[in-house]
Amino acid sequence: MKFNSLKLLLAAAFFSVAVAPVAYSASSGVPNLDADVDLSDKVSLARGAKYYANFCMGCHSLEFSRYNRVAADLGMEEGDIKPLIFTRDDDDNIHKPGALMVNALREKDAIRWFGIAPPDLTVIARARGGGDWLYSYLKGFYQDDSRPFGVNNLYFSNVGMPHVLQELQGLQALDKDTNTLTLVKPGKMSAGEYDQVAKDLTNFLVYVGEPAQLHRTFYGILTLLFLLVLLVLAYLLKKEFWKDIH
Ligand code: HEC
Repeated sequence: MKFNSLKLLLAAAFFSVAVAPVAYSASSGVPNLDADVDLSDKVSLARGAKYYANFCMGCHSLEFSRYNRVAADLGMEEGDIKPLIFTRDDDDNIHKPGALMVNALREKDAIRWFGIAPPDLTVIARARGGGDWLYSYLKGFYQDDSRPFGVNNLYFSNVGMPHVLQELQGLQALDKDTNTLTLVKPGKMSAGEYDQVAKDLTNFLVYVGEPAQLHRTFYGILTLLFLLVLLVLAYLLKKEFWKDIH
């Protein structure tokens, strides 16, 4: 398992720099929607984390993240994002501090149910070249009765994932001539509300792919301040050294 995780991480890292930006942006021929990712919006990130725990975590682990780190970064309680019931035999350390965000899904069950195991999503935003594709994907499900779950996706043709947010969004239909989607069966939410859910999830997954992004600006400013102080000291020192030389 550990070796597999490492392989997955290396593959994702390779993908994110080498293959992904070229391969995926051209995959469906439909341009991605603009996710307008905003990592300074902590409230959106926290909502995204909760949606993720409720709707995605059962199938998709985030096994390169830790519950305590995510909770601390987003100002949440670990309990808000941790599954209550946990049964995977080899991961009974879920309740220890610093537990990784694994889930209880067994690969062989997943393959039986979906034909393919749901991938870990820790670095999915990076593998897909940013948040835009993810946002589009979450809004891209449409009715297709020829598919096992009755849905297909405009940004991932013949996807093996059911539309898990259908209850919220409702069901869209695809106009094949124009490649546009229209809502044919409304869900619990308005279009605007569902957009916000997709945006929150996207924000959250972009953050999870590189948690340090939240702190980078802070350290950048700190570094500049430090250099500024150093500049003043260096200038005073120079003045002191040259004071007797004319
Ligand atoms: C019932 C299980 C299940 C749930 C719940 C689920 N997914 Fe999936 N997901 C899958 C499967 C299976 C695939 C693989 C599809 C394929 O490759 O054809 C997948 C694929 C994906 C992909 C594409 C990954 C890639 O290969 O690029 C993304 C992104 C994704 N899911 C996001 C989500 C998000 C976000 C949620 C929560 C809102 C979610 N999924 C909930 C089963 C699930």
